[in-house]
Amino acid sequence: MRARAEELTRLIRHHAGLYYDRDKSEIADADYDALMSELRALEQEFPELADPLSPTRTVGAPPSELFAPVAHDVPMMSLDNAFDLDELRAWDTRAASRLDGPAGPYVCELKFDGLAISVRYERGRLVRAATRGDGRVGEDVTHNVATIDDVPRRLGADAPEVLEVRGEVYMAIPAFERLNEAREAAGEARYANPRNTAAGSLRQKDPAVTAERELSWWCYQLGTMTGGPAIRRHSETLEFLAHLGLPVNDAWLLAEDLVAVEGYVQTAEQRRHDHDYETDGVVIKVDDFARQAELGATSHHPRWAVAYKFPPEERSTKLRAIQVSIGGKGKATPFAVLEPVFVGGSTVQMATLHNEDQVKAKDVRPGDTVVVRKAGDVIPEVLRPVLSERPEGLPAWEFPEFCPCDNHSRLVREEGDAAHHCRHPQCPAQQAGGIEHFASRGAMDIEGLGEKNVHLLIREGLIVDVADVYALEEAAVVSLENFGPKKARNLMAGIEASKERSLARLLFGLNIRHLGGAVGEFLAGEFGHLDDIISADVERLAEVPGVGPTIAASVRAFFDDAGNLAVVEKLRAAGVNFAGPSPADEGEALRPTLEGRAIVVTGALENFSREGATAAIAARGGRSPNSVSGSTMAVVAGAAPGASKLTKAESLGVPILDEQAFEHLLATGELPPGAAPEGAG
Ligand code: IVH
Repeated sequence: MRARAEELTRLIRHHAGLYYDRDKSEIADADYDALMSELRALEQEFPELADPLSPTRTVGAPPSELFAPVAHDVPMMSLDNAFDLDELRAWDTRAASRLDGPAGPYVCELKFDGLAISVRYERGRLVRAATRGDGRVGEDVTHNVATIDDVPRRLGADAPEVLEVRGEVYMAIPAFERLNEAREAAGEARYANPRNTAAGSLRQKDPAVTAERELSWWCYQLGTMTGGPAIRRHSETLEFLAHLGLPVNDAWLLAEDLVAVEGYVQTAEQRRHDHDYETDGVVIKVDDFARQAELGATSHHPRWAVAYKFPPEERSTKLRAIQVSIGGKGKATPFAVLEPVFVGGSTVQMATLHNEDQVKAKDVRPGDTVVVRKAGDVIPEVLRPVLSERPEGLPAWEFPEFCPCDNHSRLVREEGDAAHHCRHPQCPAQQAGGIEHFASRGAMDIEGLGEKNVHLLIREGLIVDVADVYALEEAAVVSLENFGPKKARNLMAGIEASKERSLARLLFGLNIRHLGGAVGEFLAGEFGHLDDIISADVERLAEVPGVGPTIAASVRAFFDDAGNLAVVEKLRAAGVNFAGPSPADEGEALRPTLEGRAIVVTGALENFSREGATAAIAARGGRSPNSVSGSTMAVVAGAAPGASKLTKAESLGVPILDEQAFEHLLATGELPPGAAPEGAG
């Protein structure tokens, strides 16, 4: 028990650190909440585990060093969550039993998805703004907050002597989209979602950057006040704040009883997209201050308020088309081309459909209206068609017979394989996919050599295979569209640096059929030099733990091919490292990127034996249990997966990954971002 509690504590600290300090998240909020709930339950059951510094008692993460610390006069607490109406009713029942009577009336407010700040006014002038930090000490962001139009620098004439108010800084969706359009036009990467972008924008060293970001603010809570009117209820607070000219969202409601609260919650959820800002739930607060005081707080959250969280988001949109993308090994993956839709915090226009069987099982057809789900930062999914909106006579989708490339070679689905493949040796789609894969983060990690540039370089006739990358000349690159001297120089530096990658990465990058990143590590660890692998026979290869007969045969076949050997020789001549780990990558194979995470594997994978997959997860500190639960990070589904595992994962909002996404996870420790399947577009 103690070990589990310690593990949970470490995980929560890790994720809280990323979230609060670096404005990043690796896991969906629901998973974070599940970790927290599990720890809280353990501590309740075994009080001897209780630790005053447990994350269940401390909120958020310690403030970072960039900004001066600000101690909050009244701690900025977090809220307890209710994930469904039953949990909401249970909260109310607990409150009523503490009070010996009903806790209502209640104030219902929207729960804005941004970051909390406290703003202090003295004699009506803004004097300080601070982030929440760990709840007791936050960071001074006064200069940045002062650039936000919604935050008045001065209050009206009847402002109290001292007023400290709390509220949520957020980025409205149109502002977020404008920012991303500008970034795209400048050739910069898009930001993932408004919340993280708002947080990053607020914590800029230069307030001029914050000022450009079009942030907004909703004010919803009183911190401290001296010299103001006598206020006895939260509803009066909101009225007073609005009267002073502070931005109070007017969607709040004074609800007499829990029935009225439930009505508000349902409407808020239905109308969640009628606003141009993101909401992730409803906050319910006991109106009467005397009752609030009687209810008090735990060390983590007040008992007089609760956050009802909306379930993972689903939205419907038009399925414009189903296309297939060809991966580096010729794998043809169908993906949905969607009318862009804002869901789960970002705009989605593509979603993988995995393979033919999945498309058939879901029965989604081009022209359908489909339901798309996206929870947090995980890959979006097409769930089902809206049958009532299906145009009459809409034909079912058929897997295309031919590769979209110029050779129009036949796409084949071999017996026992869930995927179709293009097997044409000169398939340009495959060739591009192969080079993209070689340059990708999990393989040789060549900065600047993404999908767009690979296509450009192929089109210009500068590269045909992966080894040609090392023959690129800066002078030729500079003159290409999209490249100036700076980008060309960076690309050349990225290519040069990649020569020092480890053997495991090189093996993975070569695109050998069935050889994933983990198997690359097993082989590199066993042999230590590429030449020893090239000269090993099938039996020797198959002896390596995690390498079965299929993979061994495929490795052998790869190095028996004269074309592949020629590529290997070109790589050698270019000075690419063939000999085991490189100083730069030392030990990275064993980085515990999945520490404590549970990944469930179901069905037959193409590139891993079951033991190989388990070993790869374990080598990164993860576990691969047999059943899916709320704290499962992901389910990896191969051919003929266990239906009950998939259903459970769906209902819990646990992301389901295909093998390619699994490789990404192993390589980076993160769920694959974005909607674009490999080679799409
Ligand atoms: S009241 C002690 N009201 O949600 C009560 N919080 O999960 C303090 N939030 O830290 C918070 N909308 O960042 C409150 N209408 C609202 C809110 C709200 C969003 C955020 C806030 C808080 C977090 C708790």
